[in-house]
Amino acid sequence: MTGLRPPPLDRIPSTLSCLADYESLARERLDDGAWAHVAGAAADGLTAQRNREAFDRLTVRPRILRDVAGGATAVTLLGRRLAHPVLLAPIAYQRLFHPDGERATAMAAEAVDAVMVVSTLASETLEAIAQAGGAGQRWFQLYWQGDRAATLALCERAQAAGCEALVLTVDSPVTAFRNDLRRAGFRLPDGVSAANLPDGRMPPPGGAGRHPVFDGAMAAAPRWADVAWLCGAQPLPVLVKGVLHPDDAAEAVALGCAGVVVSNHGGRTLDGTPASIEALPAVAAGVAGRGAVLLDGGVRRGTDILKARALGADAVLIGRPATMALAAAGALGVAHAVKLLVEELAVAMALCGLASLDDAGPELLG
Ligand SMILES: Cc1cc2nc3c(=O)[nH]c(=O)nc-3n(C[C@H](O)[C@H](O)[C@H](O)COP(=O)(O)O)c2cc1C
Repeated sequence: MTGLRPPPLDRIPSTLSCLADYESLARERLDDGAWAHVAGAAADGLTAQRNREAFDRLTVRPRILRDVAGGATAVTLLGRRLAHPVLLAPIAYQRLFHPDGERATAMAAEAVDAVMVVSTLASETLEAIAQAGGAGQRWFQLYWQGDRAATLALCERAQAAGCEALVLTVDSPVTAFRNDLRRAGFRLPDGVSAANLPDGRMPPPGGAGRHPVFDGAMAAAPRWADVAWLCGAQPLPVLVKGVLHPDDAAEAVALGCAGVVVSNHGGRTLDGTPASIEALPAVAAGVAGRGAVLLDGGVRRGTDILKARALGADAVLIGRPATMALAAAGALGVAHAVKLLVEELAVAMALCGLASLDDAGPELLG
């Protein structure tokens, strides 16, 4: 441990006043490879860019002179009341960005009441993360482990370490074209590996067939029947992450999932998809109140959260901003980034005359 302590949130320099301010600090701290890993995107980066532009195209219309006394940013998610709707997205190999890695993020999450979604590719053990995270709420992001037995064993370990929900990521069964990573010559440094997987890495694809994609990686990927099985094989609620089509959302909840995460992996897998905020309304309609709807991709401001709520999201996750804050200032940075976003949300709510996020509907936009 490198001296983990609760973040002293009152001692932040005023130059760090919004999430974007962490970016330049993170750039200074990271080498070219780690920087490309966090800041980059698949292929031409069209989806990553679109995630932001689509948020910026939306406008919120304030309502004035309303009484918002007693207001709060609280939301209900999977039957639990949360102080605010900002979750920490699953981020692989956090020791790439800070020596305290996922333990720092877990500590920050507890300090600012944010749910932390721990990646299958975490570079710290689930048990060490649980210890650092104390009473904080954690979920586990699941990458399919090639077969049901290995997948279930990993889920059981996550549950034993206190994770309260599973987020099955399904949008990246094959490695994307990360031209930026290749150009930067990125490889995982010694000492950083997937600490919760045998041999520190994902199981190698079978590859028995002729084609490395269709008969290799895709042969080891989960299908809908596996999703249904997972919902019944263990007690934790399951959310599917990487949903952009309403029919897939409807299928997920029909099979027993507790919800979906509208996501294009921050534009890091298939380039050229809709922005997640563009896909949200139809996906929410596909869920039709039968489960939770979360969104990630491009959330950078409190008003982005309002926009997402207005279009049907229960909560949002942040990926890159939290990672850059981790790189810049460890647990303190992550906690501060969440705090900034929640403060922005409260101000945006007040300026829109909203005392509760339950009242943020489509009429807020325009
Ligand atoms: C460095 C990095 C690593 C990531 N690792 C994972 C992962 O292990 N599992 C996963 O489901 N998503 C992963 N993601 C995607 C995020 O969970 C999230 O979908 C995305 O970052 C949201 O977009 P944003 O970065 O614009 O907030 C990763 C993203 C980044 C930036």
